Amino acid sequence: MKNKVTKAIFPVAGLGTRFLPATKSVPKEIMTLVDRPLIQYAIDEARAAGIKEFIFVTSRGKGALEDYFDHAPVLEQELRKKNKTELLEILKNTNMDSGEIAYIRQHKAMGLGHAVWCARRLIGNEPFAVILPDDVIAAEKPCLQQMVEAFQENPGCMVAAMEVPRTKTSSYGILDVAEDMGTHVSVRGMVEKPEADAAPSNLAVIGRYILTPNVMRNLNRIKAGSGGEIQLTDAIAMEAAEGRPVNGYRFSGQRFDCGSKAGFLQATVSFGLAREELRDGLMEYLQDLLHVDKAAQ
Ligand code: G1P
Repeated sequence: MKNKVTKAIFPVAGLGTRFLPATKSVPKEIMTLVDRPLIQYAIDEARAAGIKEFIFVTSRGKGALEDYFDHAPVLEQELRKKNKTELLEILKNTNMDSGEIAYIRQHKAMGLGHAVWCARRLIGNEPFAVILPDDVIAAEKPCLQQMVEAFQENPGCMVAAMEVPRTKTSSYGILDVAEDMGTHVSVRGMVEKPEADAAPSNLAVIGRYILTPNVMRNLNRIKAGSGGEIQLTDAIAMEAAEGRPVNGYRFSGQRFDCGSKAGFLQATVSFGLAREELRDGLMEYLQDLLHVDKAAQ
C-alpha cells in the first residue's frame, strides 16, 4: 500500500436544513465567506496538502457545485475582452482539470460513514483524506498539510482533534485516549456524539481525516450507530479495537463551525478582518457597534 495521500473525499450531500431558506436553492457549500464559497476553502486546503484527485459525494440539488468547478467560457471571454486579468486569475483557482474531479451520488441520507463508503471504488488500496467543508480552519500551515506531514511519521488512521467544553461532547465524535503525547494522541476508541457523562474525554474529532483503505472495508460491515446512521467514527473505532493504529492530531489553527449560524458569522467577521482591503473599515464598524451597545447599557 502506498503511503502518499493524493485523494480526498468531500461529503457534500447534506440538505443544509440549518440554513433554510437559503439552502432551498443554494447548496450550503456554495455559501460564501467574504467572496469565496465554503467549498473553495476546502479545495484550496486539499491542494496545499498535495491532493490530486477530488471526490465529491453529492445528492440531488447540488448542481451549482458542479457548475462552480466548471469552466465558464462566456464569463471568461467577457473578462478577457475587458482585460480583467486579475479576475481571470481568481477564476483559474475554481477550474478543475478534466479527470481531477469526480462526483458520486449518495442516493439516501444514511450518514457520514455511508457517504464516504459511496466513494470506495475510486479509492482502491491507498490512504485517503476526508474533508468536511463545514469545518473551516484558519491556519498558517493549512490543517490537512499539517496532518499529511504528521502521517508520514505516524501511519494508521489520523483524525484532527480539538478540546471542546464538556457540555458540547454530544455534537462530536469523541476520542478515548490511550496515550497523550501533546500534538499526538494515540486512540483506543471513539464514540459518536456521547452525552457529557458518557464521554471518554473532551477531545473532539474535527472534520479532517486521513484514513487507511481498511476503513472502507469496515464501512462494509458496520451497522447503523448514533442517530440511526452509518457513522464514520464507528468504522475508525473498529481499527483501534482490532489493534491497528489510530491517532488524534491536535492541529494548530482556529476552527470555525460553519455548519452553524453563529460559527458562520464568526468566520465571516474573522476572515473579513484578515483581508487587508476590508480590515480597517470593518474594524471601525465593529468598534462603532460596541460603542453604541455600551452607551445603551
Ligand atoms: C461529523 C462527525 C463527527 C465530527 C464532526 C466534526 O458530525 O460525525 O464525528 O466530530 O463531524 O465537525 P456532524 O457535524 O456532521 O454531525
